[in-house]
Amino acid sequence: MSDSQSLPLPPGSTIGMLGGGQLGRMAALAAASLGYKVHVYSPEVDGPASQVTSLNTVAAYDDWQALEKFAAAIDAVTYEFENVPAATAEFLVKRIPVRPGPNVLRICQNRLREKDFCNSIAVPTTRYAEATNADSLARVTRDFGLPCILKTAEFGYDGKGQVFISYGDDIETAWNAMSGGKETAAAIVEGFVDFRMEISVIIARNGDGSSECYVPVENHHKNHILDQTHAPARITAELADRAEVIARRLAEEMDLQGLLAIEMFVTSDDHILVNEMAPRPHNSGHWTMDACITSQFEQFMRAVAGLSLGSPDRHSNAVMKNLIGDDVDAWQSILTEPGAKLHLYGKAEARPGRKMGHVNRLSPKI
Ligand SMILES: Nc1ncnc2c1ncn2[C@@H]1O[C@H](COP(=O)(O)OP(=O)(O)O)[C@@H](O)[C@H]1O
Ligand SMILES: [Mg+2]
Repeated sequence: MSDSQSLPLPPGSTIGMLGGGQLGRMAALAAASLGYKVHVYSPEVDGPASQVTSLNTVAAYDDWQALEKFAAAIDAVTYEFENVPAATAEFLVKRIPVRPGPNVLRICQNRLREKDFCNSIAVPTTRYAEATNADSLARVTRDFGLPCILKTAEFGYDGKGQVFISYGDDIETAWNAMSGGKETAAAIVEGFVDFRMEISVIIARNGDGSSECYVPVENHHKNHILDQTHAPARITAELADRAEVIARRLAEEMDLQGLLAIEMFVTSDDHILVNEMAPRPHNSGHWTMDACITSQFEQFMRAVAGLSLGSPDRHSNAVMKNLIGDDVDAWQSILTEPGAKLHLYGKAEARPGRKMGHVNRLSPKI
């Protein structure tokens, strides 16, 4: 379905959301503030997003009958995770506007395509190559030198499906650790970046080509999971500008209509390399909920609905801390902290490594 001319969705319209996790939940809450209904489509019963809306479809992503009914019940559709099967997006786009479009999904759901795309528009990434088995991995590591990082090309998150390979490591063991023992798989080998800082930029872009960018933020991981985001990043204005230019270029070149989060490395000699992208709200943008005029979730819904974008200006500085597993037990004391805003995701069980909520700690803007 041609999307470029479609009008903004009027309040009262229904936005479809593929995926039912916390990002969908916070987006649905923001959509409600703008007068929209959100219809969540997810295989999961009682997920974080379905708890906040009465419109739910619980079905598989390849249940064509359920998708047909879903498409008939909504005015536009988006997603809160990028692993929506390509066939699902293609099915929906024939019936209803899908924002961001399937081309954006295609790029962002495969690490090789993502890096090919960046390089095709002169946006630098680390050195990388494809590997499909232990032999090709051995060839690439000989060529690149070690250390390297081996990653599954698709479906990785929070460091899952990644193996760090350093000098002296057995290549076949590394391959099996990544592939789960499979002889062939789609994988990428990346040169190890000795970065000084990890930053991310979130940009929103509308159907009319206007865009708004949040200030770059600084991300700190623990056990491969985002632990804290410092907003703004403690980098020079010149570096921040360069990060923003990269974000704008990526959003324009993929003709984004929606939100795009870009994770970047800042190297010790102040180069910026793109690590990965997500065409949706991002954990490193949760601070915007309490420290910016327009949160990333409201901005996301504005872009998907084709409304004018809100101001991304921040009125406070913030440190976002993820509440992972048992961290959430501190909820009562967090509530007593001045300047702290607690957000919980409605998950019943606090398993290790599970994102249960986050807290934004605000301080005066500097
Ligand atoms: N090429 C690399 N060089 C150095 N560190 C890396 C590299 N790729 C990933 N990392 C580290 O691993 C983390 C997770 O990798 P990433 O590619 O972002 O995958 P995901 O977030 O999907 O698990 C990054 O945030 C970074 O800390
Ligand atoms: Mg990442």
